[in-house]
Amino acid sequence: MSFQIVGTGRSTPALVLTNDMISQIVDTDDEWITSRTGIKSRFISTDETVEDLATEATKRALESAGIDGHEIDLIICSSFHGEYLSPSLSCLIQRNIGASCPAFDINAACTGFVYGLDVADAYFSSGKAETILVIAAEVMTRHIDWSDRSTCVLFGDGAGAVVLKKGKGLKSIKITAKGDDNLLTIGSVFCESPFAKQPKIDPNFRMQGSEVFKFAVTSIIKDVKSVMKEAGITASDVKMLVPHQANSRFFQIVMDKLGFKEDQVALGIDHYGNTSSASIPLMLDELMEEGKLSSGDIIVLTAFGGGLTSGACVIEI
Ligand code: ACO
Repeated sequence: MSFQIVGTGRSTPALVLTNDMISQIVDTDDEWITSRTGIKSRFISTDETVEDLATEATKRALESAGIDGHEIDLIICSSFHGEYLSPSLSCLIQRNIGASCPAFDINAACTGFVYGLDVADAYFSSGKAETILVIAAEVMTRHIDWSDRSTCVLFGDGAGAVVLKKGKGLKSIKITAKGDDNLLTIGSVFCESPFAKQPKIDPNFRMQGSEVFKFAVTSIIKDVKSVMKEAGITASDVKMLVPHQANSRFFQIVMDKLGFKEDQVALGIDHYGNTSSASIPLMLDELMEEGKLSSGDIIVLTAFGGGLTSGACVIEI
């Protein structure tokens, strides 16, 4: 299929918030958070904006690919939203890196990075692009209710980016959606209007955790099986499974059902928490930096989240 990953980059805020620090804010403790989620700490943005994080991750990805901003043909950015609804985050990144190509944002919640890769695949396949930047940048900690212990312990902030070039690395990809405004929501904030009669929607992140947990496990198993089958591989061919980092308890279930060994599953939730769509590219860059992936390795990416959405793909590095 259509592309090769030629560069990766990431950026996280300076502040590290530990579980003990959160237990000063809400009634929780390190033991509960660690045993139920696998999270020990997360990066929290203070003065860093989502644009700052996205731009820094992008500049690092460009540096690792050895190319300049003006060589990019398309910028796709996944985010719940940037500082502005308009201009889009991708347009601000375009300006900040000196690019002049088209740029747009997508929102598929935590699955946004895999959705971005799928859109990139279509652009490469149609011959419309030779080099594409896919970024995922999230400041989830600005969307949560810091008095709700069931959600505020879960999230962290960060951004990850990849530079893609036309190539044969992508072996298979699949994305799904199943509309639902019950299990996981973040309401939009609108201006006051003398005419508006619509009910106000809660702008805080709300989730029915155990239902989303079931959706996540089912989706990962179904999607990963499907993309591995299409690519003609089994778990033993895979160097690393890189799942969306939402709860480390998923990984044990998934490993057993899909036949992956512990050292094949990338685990960063302990220090990132759930960074929504940024979690996969954050992990990818970390794995590359640590020398855990090299040319010819097969990776499987899998994500799920609000929407409800899910997606997976098989890529040869
Ligand atoms: N500290 C201490 N106790 C807590 C906390 C906390 N932080 N949070 C909840 N509890 C309590 C609850 O009040 C409840 O107490 P009770 O039994 O007395 O009522 C008990 O712990 C169990 O609560 P549950 O919600 O049932 O806990 P569960 O084991 O399901 O874990 C969790 C919750 C971690 C949220 C889990 O359901 C989960 O990971 N779900 C999936 C989340 C996910 O994957 N999201 C991905 C999408 S995110 C996106 O798209 C942006």
